[in-house]
Parts: sequence; structure tokens; C-alpha cells
Amino acid sequence: SILEMEVEQIKKGKYDHFMQKEIHEQPDSLTTTMRGRLTRGRESKMKTVVLGGLKDHLRTIRRSRRIIFIGCGTSYNAALAARPIIEELSGVPVTMELASDLVDRQGPIYREDTAVFVSQSGETADTLQALEYAKSNGALCVGITNTVGSAIARGTHCGVHINAGCEIGVASTKAYTSQIAVMTMVALALGDDSISCRVRREAIIDDLFDLPSKVKEVLKLDTEMKELAKLLMEEQSLLIFGRGYNYATALEGALKVKEVALMHSEGILAGEMKHGPLALVDETLPIIVIATCDATFSKQQSVIQQLQARKGRLIVMCTKGDALSSCSSGACRFIEVPPVQDCLQPIINIIPLQLLAYHLTVLRGYNVDQPRNLAKSVTTQ
Ligand code: G6P
Repeated sequence: SILEMEVEQIKKGKYDHFMQKEIHEQPDSLTTTMRGRLTRGRESKMKTVVLGGLKDHLRTIRRSRRIIFIGCGTSYNAALAARPIIEELSGVPVTMELASDLVDRQGPIYREDTAVFVSQSGETADTLQALEYAKSNGALCVGITNTVGSAIARGTHCGVHINAGCEIGVASTKAYTSQIAVMTMVALALGDDSISCRVRREAIIDDLFDLPSKVKEVLKLDTEMKELAKLLMEEQSLLIFGRGYNYATALEGALKVKEVALMHSEGILAGEMKHGPLALVDETLPIIVIATCDATFSKQQSVIQQLQARKGRLIVMCTKGDALSSCSSGACRFIEVPPVQDCLQPIINIIPLQLLAYHLTVLRGYNVDQPRNLAKSVTTQ
């Protein structure tokens, strides 16, 4: 009805679409996610993380044999982004499961395992079924959801709400960045008792405090991403190469492009390039390479060189000021992003790709908030 349409426009405020609004809301949604959970006193030793819903279970989680992350779609990708920092700070091995695959295989889960269920809606059928399965196998079940009172929030033994605010666009954006922020805080809480990682923990806490302003900065790439979208709008396909912390960014960027812009896109682990994807490279196929500053930087440099040797059409995402050193021949375009601690860089790096997917969708004339054939919450199998 006309009234419903008007109400919807009011909810969107100055934005044309919910996805656009939710992308631009991220400085605020991240602030709410962290509110009351991080403290930083005048003395550096006072930097702490408190997650009320988890604090009585941290000891059990630290002692578990492994942590299993379980989710679907964007929520799975967020867990993948947080996996390295959880492993680093907790020392517990982390394995990844797509919920449907775990259920299909009836994969082994034991009492000594911690199963972490990541879901924006908290109602995804596959994830819920995996939860019932893990519970019946005696694992400690932790929920990370955006919806208080949801089936997954109720069904898990403990958990953390991401508090990103209601997400309406079918393609998840602000929930993704808040999920990574929460799982990073979980990593910090798990590593709390270790003296050896104190400096690292404090550096991460400092950058979490700075995150909303860094996100504001990267959102200024909006016009640039619109220009890039104009350049790419007629393409059949787009590859995104990432590794390390940003393997997840490659998968999530490609997921955004396919689900809303309806363009084929693939996120590829750069370390696998020579094992197949290199055969696709020519002068026409656009390729985004994520090469921001971290321990994998020099490996990404050599990936860029090899792609250039095959005349690949490169768009390099690099740390601000690093454009020249990351692409020597000058044949590429750049997306320059502000630096943060390596484990938080995925939160920054996904934003230009969200903007790109958004503008591609508008330019290609597709439905941004309700992509064809997709649902916000998949409650059937
Ligand atoms: C659907 C949505 C995706 C979402 C996935 C998992 O496919 O379209 O955006 O990532 O479900 O949803 P969840 O609510 O469990 O995070």
C-alpha cells in the first residue's frame, strides 16, 4: 500500500535502499557492538574485554579440544575472517563447517568440543539443525547472533549478541562487520590469561576503539567505487584473490557481487592460484587482488607479478600510500584503504567491496534489497 511504502521510505532516511543505509551505518553499528564490552583505563594494564554472556564459560572453551565454527553464507565468512586471531590468542585449533555440510556428513563432534553457531537472524534452518546435532553430541554450544530471543540464541548454552541493529537488506553488510568485531573480542577474552600475548591484545583493543573512525574514512571511497562499478557493469565475471586474514574478504566480496549484482564472482585463496585459477587469466577478465599490509604481503606481491606477467586486468586493494610498491608496472587500478591491526583489516577491506556490489546492482538495474530467488532468513531446507 501507499502507506507501507511511505513508512519504508521514512525508515530508509536519506538513502535509496536499505543495503546502502546499512553499509553507511557501519561506524555506528560497530560502536554499538563494542559498547560496554571494551574498557581502556589511563593505565595500559587496564585494557579489558568483558563479554557477559560468555564469561562463565571461558575456562571451558580454553580447555576444549577444538573450536568448531558453524554457519551459512555471510555468517560463515565472518567466522572464517576471525579464525586466525582465535587460534593465535586461544591456542585452540579452529575448524570451519558450513552447517548443511556438517549435517550431511554427520561429522564427528565430541563433548570436548566447543561449537560456535554464527547467524545474523538466529533462525537459519541448516544452522539450527547443526545446533541440535552438536547438542546431542554433548558439545558446548555458543551462539553469536543479532537477534535476541531467536531460536539459536535460545538453543545455545551461552553466547554473545552482536547488537548491530535490525538488518533489512537481504545481503548482509553491517552484521558481517559486527560479527567479526564480536569474534575478535571473543579471541581477546580467550587470550586474557596469557601474558605473552598482552602487547598484541592491547594493540588490538586500541584499534577496536579506532575502528568506527577508520570505517568512516573508508566509506569515503563511495564515489570511487561507483566509478569502478561503471567500468565493470557489463562484465560477465569478477575474480577476487585474497589470503590469510583476507581470504574471507575475497569470499564475502564475491558473495555480495553474485547475490545482489547478479554477476558471476569467485573469491579465490591466492595460494591456490597456480592450481587452476591462473588458467582463467587474460586481458579481459577483471581481478581484484587484496594486498593490504600484513604477514602475507610479500606473497601477494608475487601473485600480482605473476598476474601481470599474464596481462591480467588488475585492481589492487592496498594500504593507503602503498599503491606504487604494490604494483610496479603501473598497469593496475588501486583501492587504497586505511591500515589497522591485521586481524581487524577484514572489517575495513570488505567495505569498498560492499559499495562496489551495491553500485553494480543499481547500475545493472536489479533489486538491491530483495535479490531474485533469495530470502533474508532461510528457514526451510
Ligand atoms: C541467507 C541470507 C544471507 C545470510 C545467510 C545466513 O542466505 O540471504 O545474507 O548470510 O542466509 O543467514 P544467518 O541469518 O544465519 O546469518
